[in-house]
Amino acid sequence: MNNASRASKNEFVFVVKSEQLTLNVPATFEIDDRFVVIVKCEDGVFCVDDVCTHDGGTLGDGEYIDHCLVCPRHGAKFDVRTGDAVTMPATEPTGSHEVKIDGDDVLVRLAS
Ligand code: FES
Repeated sequence: MNNASRASKNEFVFVVKSEQLTLNVPATFEIDDRFVVIVKCEDGVFCVDDVCTHDGGTLGDGEYIDHCLVCPRHGAKFDVRTGDAVTMPATEPTGSHEVKIDGDDVLVRLAS
């Protein structure tokens, strides 16, 4: 677990250096008391809430497979690019946050 510096609403905040992320391995961070998962994959860097909408599982503890985080509790999959739930038992998306890459810095703007 890592903590990002606090940010005002609607601002990008530095979270981590890209080189500190391992390709296709989810990493969990806390930004302004909100837990998020960041995944660096072949399509870019993506950030979603660390919460499964089925029953609160921590997505950052699950596997990353084919653009999806797999909830470790009951196996629901969430597309990291959109936050969409793509398999049951989850039906609602988890939060998705905008990511900006500035040099080697990974910045995130939390969705409301
Ligand atoms: S809590 Fe995630 S699938 Fe049930």
